[in-house]
Formats: sequence, C-alpha cells, structure tokens
Amino acid sequence: MSDRSYYIAGNWKMHKTRAEAAELAKALVAELKDGKHKYLVAPTFTSLETVGPVVKGTNIRLGAQNMAAEEQGAHTGEVSVLQLKDLGVQTVILGHSERRHIYGEDDALINKKVRLALRHGLEVILCIGELLEEREAGRAEAVCETQTVKGLEGVSAGELSNVVIAYEPVWAIGTGKTATPEDADAIHAWVRKVIGKLYGADCAEKIIIQYGGSVKAENAAQLMAKENIDGALVGGAALKPDTFAPIAKFG
Ligand code: PGA
Repeated sequence: MSDRSYYIAGNWKMHKTRAEAAELAKALVAELKDGKHKYLVAPTFTSLETVGPVVKGTNIRLGAQNMAAEEQGAHTGEVSVLQLKDLGVQTVILGHSERRHIYGEDDALINKKVRLALRHGLEVILCIGELLEEREAGRAEAVCETQTVKGLEGVSAGELSNVVIAYEPVWAIGTGKTATPEDADAIHAWVRKVIGKLYGADCAEKIIIQYGGSVKAENAAQLMAKENIDGALVGGAALKPDTFAPIAKFG
C-alpha cells in the first residue's frame, strides 16, 4: 500500500455571499478539526478575504478556483496570482471542466497558468477529464493523457511536488452520475503511468490524484478504497457542512 495521504477539497463554485461563505467555513473548521486527511476549501474570489482568516492556522487550506495567466497588467476582469497570494491563498484549481468547456480555456492557456502559479509557490490542482462522447468513442485515456502532458509542459520534477491532479469526467460533474470506482481507478492508474513516463516512478507514486464528479458521503469510501484514488474534489456536496464533513471524514 502506498503512503499517499488523502486530500479532500471543496469547490464552492459560484455560490455563497461572504456571510454564507464565512458560516460554512466556520462550521467546517469545527467539524474537521480532528479530521485526519488534508483539506481545502475554494470559495469564489469575492469571499477569499472573508474565509481566509477563518481557516488560517487550521487544517483547512485556502484555495482559489482560477487565476489569470499573466502576473499583472491590462486584463480586465481577471485576478492575478499576486492578488491571490496577498489574500493568503495557498492553492489554485486550474483547468476545471467548467473553465475548459464553458469559458473555452485550452491546454496552452491552462499550462501558462499552471507554470505561473508554481513559479509563485502556489499548490496547483490541475483538473482533467473527458466528455461523454469522448468516453463513448473509447478516447477517455487519450484525452486525459493529452490534458496531463500539455498541462504540465515545462513543469520540473521539483515543482511537481506542488501539483495535484483531479480527474473529473465531465459527464459526472453535477449530474449525480458518479464514475464507478473501477472506471475512475482505471483512469487514475493511467494518469499515474503518464506521470511516470514524464517524471519517473518515484514522482508517479507520490502524486496525489483526486477524483471529482458527484462525490457524496454514500460513495466516498468506495472510491477512496481504490489503489489510485487519493482524494476528492467535491462540488455540490461541498456546499453544506452536513454533506461535506462525512466525505472529508471518511475512513
Ligand atoms: P460535483 O462537482 O461534485 O458537483 O459533481 C465536482 C467539481 O466540479 O469539482
């Protein structure tokens, strides 16, 4: 068995006002204080300044859901890595399927963001995952391989220790359809092999690969029991302490 630890992250997406975000964060700090895994919450940009002090010094990291590919400058509507760091953000989620498929982010742009975030010492959760038609066409592995390879272009082995991969099949996100633990594990194993080819066996063994897509209390333990699943990136179920805490405290 590996010594990889589990990493459970909550992606709050475009939900919650500052007051609601603070309330959720406070409840999670209390619920998870004895939790034995690694934790993260990723509120919207507007709630980072509110949630930051609530989770500071606890076992819950502060994450952002996206960032600009440039450090600063004339980029209306974007948020810079420097601004995130100023708020105490430790981790940034990049390449989420909603960024890829609703907002048209491609692998080259995501890679630019990954490199910038790592250069500034942020931990990166790089999301990958295939569409339903890609899975049905037998292309799930190829799509995930391409997104991994291109997303990590120019990232050194040293920097890779600050990278987490989140495998989120697009057809499972927010749909209530979870990948079976076997199907998810097969892709995780494949991605680990891809990392092995790029960085060697040691890095492949150590890298954390989260699963995301309709994770809930009822399926978390079965997913995490799989050899290659090291955590979860949780959307809908991350919005309430009652649904997130049981996932975060599984096992
Ligand atoms: P979900 O979202 O848990 O609501 O499916 C997961 C994600 O998009 O990160």
